[in-house]
Amino acid sequence: MLPLQVTADGSYTFFSPEFGECFHSQSGAQQEAVQKFVEPCQLSQRAHDLPSGATICLLDICYGLGYNSAAALAAIWAVKPRARVAIAALELTATVPQQAVEQGLLALWPPAIARPLSDLARDRAVETEHLHAQLWLGDARQTLPQLQASGFRADAIFLDPFSPPRCPALWTPEFLGWAARCLRPTGRLATYSCAGAVRTALLTAGLHLSETPAVGRRAPGTVASFDATGLPPLSPRSQEHLQTRAAVPYRDPDLCDSAAEIVARRRAEQAASNLEPTTRWKRRWANPQ
Ligand SMILES: C[S@@+](CC[C@H](N)C(=O)[O-])C[C@H]1O[C@@H](n2cnc3c(N)ncnc32)[C@H](O)[C@@H]1O
Repeated sequence: MLPLQVTADGSYTFFSPEFGECFHSQSGAQQEAVQKFVEPCQLSQRAHDLPSGATICLLDICYGLGYNSAAALAAIWAVKPRARVAIAALELTATVPQQAVEQGLLALWPPAIARPLSDLARDRAVETEHLHAQLWLGDARQTLPQLQASGFRADAIFLDPFSPPRCPALWTPEFLGWAARCLRPTGRLATYSCAGAVRTALLTAGLHLSETPAVGRRAPGTVASFDATGLPPLSPRSQEHLQTRAAVPYRDPDLCDSAAEIVARRRAEQAASNLEPTTRWKRRWANPQ
C-alpha cells in the first residue's frame, strides 16, 4: 500500500517511495487539481460553449489517483450536466488508481463522478451515455504516441508527472512534442511546473506559454496552447529565466533513456553552455535596479 498523507485542504494524497515525492502539493491535493489544471484549461467555459452533440476531450498524463480528471468532470458537468466527455488517462501502473479507490479517496466527488472513475480503475475502460474513458497503462513515452496514432485530440491536457529532476523522461521536448501533437488548435495544456527546462520543451513544441496563478507556493504554473488568445505573455522575469542555464531541457532522443542518463546528459549540456548561470539571474531579480 502507498502511504497516505493529508494535505492542507483536508484532501488526501499518496507518497511515492519510488520517486521520493508526494503525488500532490502539500497545500491541497484537490485544490491543486482545480486551480492548477482545470481552471487554466477553462473547462467551465468550454462546457458552456460546447455545441450540441460535441464531446470535450481530456488527456490526463499521469492519471495517478484520478483527481485531475475528477475535478474536470465536476467543472464540466456543473455547467452542462449532459455534456459528453472523453478521457484518455495515461498511467504507469493500475495499482495507483486502484489503491485510491480502495482507500475511498474519490469520495471527494459526488457518486456520478466517483462511480465511473472507480470503474475505470478496475476495468481500464468506461462507456456511459456521457463518458467515454480509457486508462492507458505503461510508460507514457510508449502509450502517448499510440494514443496520437489513434487520432485522439484533446481540448485539455493535464501534464502532471513527478518533478523534472525525479521524472525527467516526461518533461523532454521529445515527449512533449507528442503531447502537442495530441492537442487541438485551440486546446490548452496545463502543468504545475514553471521550470525553465519544461518551458523550453513546450516552446520547442510550438506552443505559446503563459503563467497560471501561484497556488499554495510562490511559483506559478504554466499553461500552453497553439492559440495565444487569452494567454498573457510571460513576465520579463520569466522570459529572462529562459535565457539562463535552467532553460536547458532534459533530452531523451529515442524516448527510452533512464532518468539517470537523462539527468546526466542535461548536466553535461549545462556545463558546456554559454547561457547565463541561473544564480546570476536570481540575484538580479532579487535586487532589481
Ligand atoms: C504526481 S503523480 C500524478 C497525480 C495525479 N495527476 C492525480 O491527480 O492523482 C505522478 C504519476 O505519474 C505516474 N508515472 C510515473 N512515471 C510514469 C511514466 N513513465 N508513464 C506514465 N505514468 C508515470 C506515477 O505512477 C504517478 O501516478
